[in-house]
Amino acid sequence: MAVACAHAQPAWALALAALGLLVSARAAARLALWLYAAFLRPARPLRRRYGAWAVVTGATDGIGRALASRLAGAGLGLVLVGRSPDRLAAASADIRARHPGAQVRTFVLDLAADGLAARVGALGEYIRDLDVGVLVNNAGACYPYARYFHELDEALARDMVRINVEATTRVTHAVLPGMVERGRGAIVNIGSGGASNMPSCPLHTVYAATKAFVDQFSRALYVEYKSKGIDVQCQVPMYVATKMASIRNPSFFAPSPEAYSRAAVRYIGYEPRCTPYWPHALWKLVWLLPGPVADRVILSMALDGRAKGRAKDARKKAQ
Ligand SMILES: NC(=O)c1ccc[n+]([C@@H]2O[C@H](COP(=O)([O-])OP(=O)(O)OC[C@H]3O[C@@H](n4cnc5c(N)ncnc54)[C@H](OP(=O)(O)O)[C@@H]3O)[C@@H](O)[C@H]2O)c1
Repeated sequence: MAVACAHAQPAWALALAALGLLVSARAAARLALWLYAAFLRPARPLRRRYGAWAVVTGATDGIGRALASRLAGAGLGLVLVGRSPDRLAAASADIRARHPGAQVRTFVLDLAADGLAARVGALGEYIRDLDVGVLVNNAGACYPYARYFHELDEALARDMVRINVEATTRVTHAVLPGMVERGRGAIVNIGSGGASNMPSCPLHTVYAATKAFVDQFSRALYVEYKSKGIDVQCQVPMYVATKMASIRNPSFFAPSPEAYSRAAVRYIGYEPRCTPYWPHALWKLVWLLPGPVADRVILSMALDGRAKGRAKDARKKAQ
């Protein structure tokens, strides 16, 4: 009798143990799913599932150009959207050389210019008879380097709002009706890990705010159109070695646009929000820090970027 009493556990201890088990099982399941998605899950058959063409904005450089090339490799025809006819021609020639036989069309559209509604309307007309299965809203504008909000000039703020918010909204509005009619499609909006995966994004305030819009815009559309056969997704990368990020040499944490795009294409049509290049997901560990500490770490990184950017500006002025 005395032995039995020594082993009996109070009910609260058993409940606590059960809760611990549940939490651990949930964490293990999430980790297993993440590993599967990052390394094993097959890509969707994009052309068969969604349609024959892809529209990619900001397709003349960086992530957009690399993603367009990957989509051509997956058998889709391309409508490359960009502001420079010469750069569009160069991107088109490069993609055709890599994927002989690929159908590539170009559409000149400056997403920061006045009269955006009319120009996007013209894009809608241009693609009206195409079976557009995939739309990638990739074009974006960002600060050249970190700065305080009061240091931000009006033109740059306006461009970020126009390109990241207004153009993403208008282009989606132009392409979506065709997808609804056909009952299939995938929309990929390129957001930002800084806005969606980090506790704060100081010194890139307006950029992060516009990308937070992209995140919510995508999430709501995902729910609205899922039952209509349209998969909407927001991809939230951290650093990628492009002109925008001012990173020349790719590294483990800042991959080349090609390496990013290899991962990105494999995620199209799955989660509503994702971080396709797996090392980028490691940034989320910052959430383990207490909030004020995380803020301080992120701010000091941004201040470092600001100091380097200002020094570079000063050197340029002195030349
Ligand atoms: N690189 C990163 O670290 C990073 C991280 C998170 C999110 N992102 C997001 O990823 C997307 C692509 O960025 P990226 O790094 O690949 O930048 P990028 O190499 O600078 O390329 C940006 C693309 O957008 C086009 N573009 C810029 N302004 C435009 C305008 N007014 N009208 C039409 N097209 C315009 C550029 O055209 P031009 O060739 O004519 O300049 C270029 O094709 C952006 O939405 C960005 O916010 C990037």
